[in-house]
Amino acid sequence: MSALDQVEPIEQASIDELRALQLARLKEAMHYSYERVAHYRQKFDAAGVHPGDLKDFSDLPRFPFTSKDDLRQNYPFGMLAVPMDEVVRIHASSGTTGKPTVVGYTRGDIDTWSQLMARSIRAAGGRARDKIHVAYGYGLFTGGLGAHYGGEYLGAAVIPVSGGFTERQVQLINDFQPDIIMVTPSYMLAIADEFERQGLDARQCSLRIGIFGAEPWTDAMRVEIEGRLGLSALDIYGLSEVMGPGVAQECAETKDGLTVWEDHFYPEIIDPQTGQPLRDGEAGELVITTLTKQAMPVIRYRTRDLTRLLPGTARRMRRMERIRGRSDDMLIIRGVNVFPSQIEAVLAQEKRLAPHYVLELRRPDRLDELDVVVETRTNAGGQLAAAELTELERHAEHLIKAYVGVTTRVRVVEPGTIERSQGKAKRVIDLRAKK
Ligand code: DLL
Repeated sequence: MSALDQVEPIEQASIDELRALQLARLKEAMHYSYERVAHYRQKFDAAGVHPGDLKDFSDLPRFPFTSKDDLRQNYPFGMLAVPMDEVVRIHASSGTTGKPTVVGYTRGDIDTWSQLMARSIRAAGGRARDKIHVAYGYGLFTGGLGAHYGGEYLGAAVIPVSGGFTERQVQLINDFQPDIIMVTPSYMLAIADEFERQGLDARQCSLRIGIFGAEPWTDAMRVEIEGRLGLSALDIYGLSEVMGPGVAQECAETKDGLTVWEDHFYPEIIDPQTGQPLRDGEAGELVITTLTKQAMPVIRYRTRDLTRLLPGTARRMRRMERIRGRSDDMLIIRGVNVFPSQIEAVLAQEKRLAPHYVLELRRPDRLDELDVVVETRTNAGGQLAAAELTELERHAEHLIKAYVGVTTRVRVVEPGTIERSQGKAKRVIDLRAKK
């Protein structure tokens, strides 16, 4: 066994040791950011706080949040804490509107990221002897290169396929026999479909482990992917502003949510409406402070991701529950709050429906209405008779109403109708007339 296959000592440190390390790093990160980034200096000064005021974790809520908007206003490089000659990498996250957010890394940041990604892959069950097929995009997106450097750091053989060219994804899996695949869960399904289209049994493929993230997914989707590909599916979380993938990772031995790598990130949960801190176990918005980042530290970054913090199981570090959605993805349909992932979980209960769906949002009047467009399964026995189709649609509407509490109109369509994602799936199509 390679030395790199072993759990790092910090993963087994006691809670006291961990909190002491975090507090020391947090104090340092506060001073570092204040001294080096004009934005933090102005924000802290305006809020009447100084890094020296942080004596304990309970002082952290006195410090101002950082938002995506702050990064946009400092586009492209205003948030950097180091001169450009110390920056060795730049990534950006496209976002849906406006300018992208830009992030920079020093050599030290790339080392930390690689180490945390290696730790994540190891926690998912990956080892130095494994071959890793990376199908996350390599563009300005952090997924591809994050997985790539982590896999190499672990000593694995990395196959940098990137996203797209789905036929070739299947061919490379068949020919190179990778043990691990790293890809968005929605694109994994498209690859599974392509196996079927080529008349191949995906369950016979070499893949043992899938490390899936970059978009919300459900336990039902996990069951689907594991069943179709005969692998163990683990969740990985991260965001460009904080680092990229590898902020938190689900451990193979427990598969019960994602261990936050707390030696490098300090997580908080807040009420997204009031900004007030919530206790561990309470659901709210995840806020992250980076403890070791050099090029672009973030203080109390509002992720918009909704989750809960839970005590550690496989590791002592805290876990976060699977992300249930982003606060900005929440739809309000006739007064009921609904996340796409809730609809996904309900659709999965009906075996005649495939996990390919989109939600169409309309506003014919003053209220938003939601159409759920979902495919039937290929193996449902060919074309469904009109009567069965109607029955299936009403049944799905009933399930959604019963479990999510929202009235929708369901349209069941033929297999292959809904556009497949090659990266992050777009689940909501906004057809409301722009005023
Ligand atoms: O998606 C980084 C990443 C790459 C994570 C590969 C995991 C795997 P961004 O493009 O900046 O970075 O998007 C970050 O994606 O705030 C979440 O809303 C969402 N997200 C990421 N991982 C998960 C996950 C990458 N496991 C945004 N579950 C985040 C649910 C996720 N949502």
